[in-house]
Amino acid sequence: MRESNLNYRHAFHAGNFADVVKHVALALCFDRLNQKAAPYRYIDTHAGIGMYDLEGDEAERSPEWKDGVGRVWEAERGAPQDVRNALAPWLNVIRGMNAGGLKHYPGSPFIAQRMTREDDAVRLCELHEASGALLREAMGRDKRVKIEQRDGFEALPAYLPPPERRGLVLIDPPFEVGTTTRKADFDWMLKAARGAIKRWPQGTYIYWRPIKDVAHVEAFDGELASMLIEDGGIEPAKVLVADLWVRAIGEGKLAGAGIVIANAPFGVAEHLRAALPWLAQLMSQGEGAGWRLETPAAES
Ligand SMILES: C[S@@+](CC[C@H](N)C(=O)[O-])C[C@H]1O[C@@H](n2cnc3c(N)ncnc32)[C@H](O)[C@@H]1O
Repeated sequence: MRESNLNYRHAFHAGNFADVVKHVALALCFDRLNQKAAPYRYIDTHAGIGMYDLEGDEAERSPEWKDGVGRVWEAERGAPQDVRNALAPWLNVIRGMNAGGLKHYPGSPFIAQRMTREDDAVRLCELHEASGALLREAMGRDKRVKIEQRDGFEALPAYLPPPERRGLVLIDPPFEVGTTTRKADFDWMLKAARGAIKRWPQGTYIYWRPIKDVAHVEAFDGELASMLIEDGGIEPAKVLVADLWVRAIGEGKLAGAGIVIANAPFGVAEHLRAALPWLAQLMSQGEGAGWRLETPAAES
């Protein structure tokens, strides 16, 4: 059994720049899946608590959301139309729960619950017991949603392939011990990704990872891309990296993060290409902010 980090609390980070990028992309993927009537399944290996109180204790002590979703909330009406189109699926969920002003932030399970349809299914893993209880509370009674308190990396193979043969997997571990990035999460993610892609190469997968050491992340992306292409038979053009950094990347407080998407649905790349430059400028916290959207160079 791997040593799990059960001290991590996403409530300290909910709605920060890294969540914005991840959740904009997630909502775009749901939006595309919803273009076809056939049901699908969403699988979240590291679900968190589902819903975050931006006036709660953790958000007050660590108001990272103010430089993330807070800035977007204030500025989006003035954004160019292509940016607004790209943000719309995610912002619609946020607006739906914040009629009186921005007070709550939806985590990935809540975005899933709002964006999936009657015949779709949602499977959530959250290992931390108290977080799992909060997650159950946030999800309420919903027969489409099943929550398991277990290790999401270990659970993943049993979910694949989903009976619907359509769907989306989010792999979003904490990667953190205190303020240090736990590099083991990269290895576990690769291992989980390898098992998953062999079982279900047709699925859409979103792998989130922090960027503190650029060379390490590029090596990870290269290894992941090679595996997706070779073991999963995925077209290289269907592997996307979307990253954003709010200042020059270095160790210490997180400055950059992003996702790798396997089998990105049609249209998602175009929307991200519109949104990322605007988001990078808006959420900048100093010199050296930037973004990238590319197909990672697979290892030769
Ligand atoms: C980054 S947060 C998830 C955020 C969520 N996916 C979202 O986007 O709203 C990571 C979560 O994984 C949980 N966790 C840590 N190790 C785990 C494991 N091995 N399996 C499942 N959950 C785990 C933590 O308790 C934490 O709630």
